[in-house]
Amino acid sequence: MIDADAMDREALAALLRWYAAMGVDCALGEAPVDRFVQAREKSEESAPEFARAAPEPPAPAPAPPPRPQTPAPPKTRPVAPQPAAALSHDAAAASAREQAASARTLDELRERLAAFDGCALKFSATQLVFADGAPDAKIMIVGEGPGADEDRIGRPFVGRAGQLLDKMLAAIGLDRTKVYIANVVPWRPPGNRTPTPQELALCLPFVRRQIELVAPDFLVLLGASAAQTLLNEKEGITRLRGHWHDYHGDGGTIRALPMLHPAYLLRAPLKKAQAWRDLRVLRHALDQKYGRGAAGPA
Ligand code: URA
Repeated sequence: MIDADAMDREALAALLRWYAAMGVDCALGEAPVDRFVQAREKSEESAPEFARAAPEPPAPAPAPPPRPQTPAPPKTRPVAPQPAAALSHDAAAASAREQAASARTLDELRERLAAFDGCALKFSATQLVFADGAPDAKIMIVGEGPGADEDRIGRPFVGRAGQLLDKMLAAIGLDRTKVYIANVVPWRPPGNRTPTPQELALCLPFVRRQIELVAPDFLVLLGASAAQTLLNEKEGITRLRGHWHDYHGDGGTIRALPMLHPAYLLRAPLKKAQAWRDLRVLRHALDQKYGRGAAGPA
């Protein structure tokens, strides 16, 4: 005989396993959040939004009578702090610009970013993932955003894509002591989804300031999010990759090379041939600037 309670638990466990396999590994609110409404409400109330209970979802349609022996679900469940709440998009963008511009060092920038509440990603992520590598490097690599491993460990590119990136760097005589690595968004998007244009725009002043403070000779932009955001381009990564572009920073123009993202190369290994061509383009530029055969800039 099947125990209905045990069956429900198993069904629930199976559902959770399926969610995890589909990449849904982060519990957010039960109902979609209209952040524009939140922002309006926020401006009328004094308590921070994330400190208050989530709004009741709209009244549900009349439910069928409950099944016998099945406990009714609790009326309210804990939800992740509802961010950002804090500010309208425009106000958050203005705050991001102000905070980023006022940072005089990378340490200050990291502090400002850690204190910045304007981007909702912060509230579903475990921690800020700011950078790895050498802050005085001549090559700065910018990826899209942290994945699950980076979110757990707090450093960019430490998961499978990061291991591939290390191999790609080694193939042209580079390693993490010779590059500085960051992302266009420093908090993990839930389920590893692509950051939205709004999230990218909110984080942009910070990564631009990060580039300005590192002041590299070369930028390597991994994947479409990094390349399109930093180059202000709409063209796809397959067209952008492998050619030098000008990144127009506040501290001057920097040569930037878009490349295929290592996470994409893991899914499409045949594209590694293109990535190898792009790495040789980078190596050639390094040889021209710092001398042929040098293991890389000091
Ligand atoms: N992918 C990225 O774009 N950045 C990371 O830090 C890790 C994976």
